[in-house]
Amino acid sequence: MIDGKKILFSGMQSTGNLTIGNYLGALKNWLTLSDEYECFYSVVDMHSITIRQDPSELRKRARNLLTLYIAAGLDPKKNCIYYQSHVSGHAELAWILNCFTYIGELNRMTQFKDKATKHADNINAGLYTYPVLMAADILLYQSDVVPVGKDQLQHLEITRDIAQRFNAIYGDIFTIPEPYMGKAGANIRSLQNPEKKMSKSDENANASIYLMDDPDTIIRKFKRAVTDSEASVRYRDEQPGIKNLIEIYCACTGKTPEETEKEFDGKGYSEFKPAVGEAVVSVLKPVQDRFYELSKDKAYIDGIIKENAEKANYYATKTLRKVQKKIGFPERIR
Ligand code: TRP
Repeated sequence: MIDGKKILFSGMQSTGNLTIGNYLGALKNWLTLSDEYECFYSVVDMHSITIRQDPSELRKRARNLLTLYIAAGLDPKKNCIYYQSHVSGHAELAWILNCFTYIGELNRMTQFKDKATKHADNINAGLYTYPVLMAADILLYQSDVVPVGKDQLQHLEITRDIAQRFNAIYGDIFTIPEPYMGKAGANIRSLQNPEKKMSKSDENANASIYLMDDPDTIIRKFKRAVTDSEASVRYRDEQPGIKNLIEIYCACTGKTPEETEKEFDGKGYSEFKPAVGEAVVSVLKPVQDRFYELSKDKAYIDGIIKENAEKANYYATKTLRKVQKKIGFPERIR
């Protein structure tokens, strides 16, 4: 608890361009949580180097992502928006937790198996212990809740197991975090293949709507979205392409699938597809405008970075010192 509020932690990697899936499924939900919780929203750049990165590109993307958090509407005075690499406690706690994590547990992580297959030439130890760093992120701030997508649930499970194991030995040190699953738009699919999740790293640029796509590109991509030959706007599993478009439309307009079916009753896809595009543009355009505006104000962003790194460090160090003491590290002489 901080000031009587429960603590929330989440983070995003700055690799690849964010898609509307990341926005509607995560970022937009973060906004609604920031009143109820004391929030830490990290740009998890330490996680990014588990895959080879170009240094200047990594730095640029990290800054863009941090700016985007603010452009999306997160108030940096209320929410702690910071770079993971600016708080050394993440690495220090991760080392300690490594010693409380079994390789048998890590061997079961499906994301590791996927990434190891994709990056067979660089299966490094960091990729393997990625979930332990994630556990450190969460436990360092005594987080009560963690908004995550389905693909990260397994990592949250292992975080809870590590924390419970540690607490069983040393007493109540860590808060045991609960997952927080967003409601609307948590499950945006590829526009070219609705069987697949929309991804930052799809080779087909038409499959994903990027947060920074301009309006013309957005409309064009929706016009090209893969659908079916039913020619009716119905929300059902038999029409996965249309179902996905309806979900995107609903997430952007606040309408329900039933209302959407009614609105487009008797109308063809040539009317529905551009309408979805327009709905997305009207949500993204203001975020993009704010992003470009904020990007120009270097001093302001730098100030946020400095202030919030200090705030994060303060809370992180509190937990870290407690942990270090419990496990028997020598006291610091001041
Ligand atoms: N692994 C998460 C992802 O790729 C990002 C992440 C890192 C995270 N640390 C976290 C998410 C802590 C929630 C909490 O999406």
